[in-house]
Amino acid sequence: MNIAIITGASSGIGVEFYKEMQNESLDEVWVIARREQQLNEICKAHGKIGYRVIPLDITAPENLAYLSNLLSEVKPCIKFLFNNAGFGLHGDLIDSDYISQGKMVDLNVRALTEITTISLKYMDKGSCIINTCSIASFVPNARMSVYSATKAYVMSFTRSLRYELRKRKINVTAICPGPMATEFLEVAGIDKGTSGAFDKLPYCNPHKTAVRGIKAAKRGRCVYTPRGFYKFYRVLAKLLPHSFLMGASKT
Ligand SMILES: NC(=O)c1ccc[n+]([C@@H]2O[C@H](COP(=O)([O-])OP(=O)(O)OC[C@H]3O[C@@H](n4cnc5c(N)ncnc54)[C@H](OP(=O)(O)O)[C@@H]3O)[C@@H](O)[C@H]2O)c1
Repeated sequence: MNIAIITGASSGIGVEFYKEMQNESLDEVWVIARREQQLNEICKAHGKIGYRVIPLDITAPENLAYLSNLLSEVKPCIKFLFNNAGFGLHGDLIDSDYISQGKMVDLNVRALTEITTISLKYMDKGSCIINTCSIASFVPNARMSVYSATKAYVMSFTRSLRYELRKRKINVTAICPGPMATEFLEVAGIDKGTSGAFDKLPYCNPHKTAVRGIKAAKRGRCVYTPRGFYKFYRVLAKLLPHSFLMGASKT
């Protein structure tokens, strides 16, 4: 049985990944998030092929044991793994609470690592791992310090794992959007006027980002960055001192 697994499929770009998977030769798409009703509604509205709703908080290790057991029972071939669930928090670290910052690391880093590790033995030649990363991985961002660091981890993990898996012909891609108008902004505490960067930067379209990101992953690309503006930013991040770019961007 060929499947796709999408974490964070209950909203935002995760829904777009789900819609795009309907065009692939898959038997089922497994969707994971905490909000079960939301997942069911999305699958009913957009699902043409089989689906399995897996309502899980993936930051709880015992929940990942459930996923691991399910995989060993069904023994599917995972053609696409979307490590997409993630959140950010905006503001000075000193004003934030340590539990939320720790939860962000648990979700963006630990859960992504654990789900990838669990999934690998069910992947084969041609399978794709698609990690939703961010432009925040290019240069650290003050007032989103922990978030930027988690996405730098995702980029580093993508690059090294991709190298490790090249002989098995499994591709690993990091999709790196700039701001998108999703629930992410509310969760992060970003509203008009709270961040100069989020007020002024061009926004990425979640649908186009998902479509083009999947295409890039299928072509074997390591990184997909939407919009010319952010492609240019990525080049600048390789050429200029990060301290200069951090001073120029007012997150
Ligand atoms: N929007 C942006 O500006 C932006 C820019 C660059 C990168 N990104 C990245 O894009 C990815 C998707 O974000 P989005 O913009 O689509 O935001 P979103 O609409 O808030 O989606 C986040 C998804 O993660 C799920 N999630 C959160 N905590 C979870 C947990 N503990 N266990 C399982 N699922 C959990 C949420 O579902 P439940 O609440 O139902 O659990 C939701 O489906 C994230 O990795 C984010 O860092 C976003």
